Amino acid sequence: MRREQRTTPQRSVALVFLAASLAALTACVPGTDGGDSDQASGFPEDDIEVIVPFAAGGPTDTVTRMIGEPMGESLGVQIVVQNVEGAGGTVAAGQAATAAPDGYTMLMHHIGMSTAPALYDDLPYDPLTDFETVGLVTEVPMTIIARKDFEPNTLEELVAYVEANQDTVTLAHAGVGSASNLCGLLLQDAIGVTLQEVPYDGTGPALADLVGGQVDFMCDQTTNTTGQITGGEVKAYAVTTPERVESLPDLPTTTEAGLPDLQVSVWHGLYVPAGTPEDVIAVLTEALQTALADQGVIDQMADLGTAPVDADQATPEAHRALLEEQIGVWGDIIGASQGG
Ligand code: MLT
Repeated sequence: MRREQRTTPQRSVALVFLAASLAALTACVPGTDGGDSDQASGFPEDDIEVIVPFAAGGPTDTVTRMIGEPMGESLGVQIVVQNVEGAGGTVAAGQAATAAPDGYTMLMHHIGMSTAPALYDDLPYDPLTDFETVGLVTEVPMTIIARKDFEPNTLEELVAYVEANQDTVTLAHAGVGSASNLCGLLLQDAIGVTLQEVPYDGTGPALADLVGGQVDFMCDQTTNTTGQITGGEVKAYAVTTPERVESLPDLPTTTEAGLPDLQVSVWHGLYVPAGTPEDVIAVLTEALQTALADQGVIDQMADLGTAPVDADQATPEAHRALLEEQIGVWGDIIGASQGG
């Protein structure tokens, strides 16, 4: 089996040697380029794993499963989701960085790929050199929500309440480097408080505890919160984008509600380990673009307050350009907020 070959070092060495020999032979045959195209012509021959850096049932998992099915259909294989939780998504990214660069392991990650370098001194990977980008997927607004019996009813009241009760109020998030952590940091900065934070392995379990009343409030993406907001299971204060979200038309923006500096939207992208052949990446990018044009995906995303990126953004180049830019932007913001 292919996966056994990849985990057996001696056999891997033999296969690499054999592949190298075949490549060298092919390169000597006139009319062939002996390059990556031979490798991609049969790709994929087996299921593809997508590592999701947060708990099942949360927003990253939801988006991955949404596009995984149509991507798998167009590739003729299954896209298998593996949730690897811990340390705000950095455990998963570290694992994906060291996977075989053959296209059979992808990573779905979000804005956290660009915030982690400023938040971790000992990050076990470099987002720019340990990965190849496949394409952007979507950009998701965040909402500020609370357990439904939490006292404040508006964002203005929330600000006043946490100022007065900062020793007791609890703020949930999905670990240092997660989107909910980033939004929570910006919120605390905007108000000028330091709250008691409660980290989870994803906002799926965090939201469950919020609904259960174990924590007071949190930021989370509309892909996770829309159902709970419209179902009245949580209290919602604002959406963190300049415009209101169509699926939540009554929810004011942070600007309307009095915190204009709190702007975050959570962009997601697909990655493969550095060294993955370009033509293998091209096959994955094409499947991603097919999935993002799928009407079922467009409708599901719209119901959850988001949309697929345009096709020209679902490319390795656009994705890398955004990643580079965002590492700079968030490095500066996080550095300044930490007094650096
Ligand atoms: C998740 O999938 O649980 C979230 O994306 C976590 C987060 O970044 O807030």
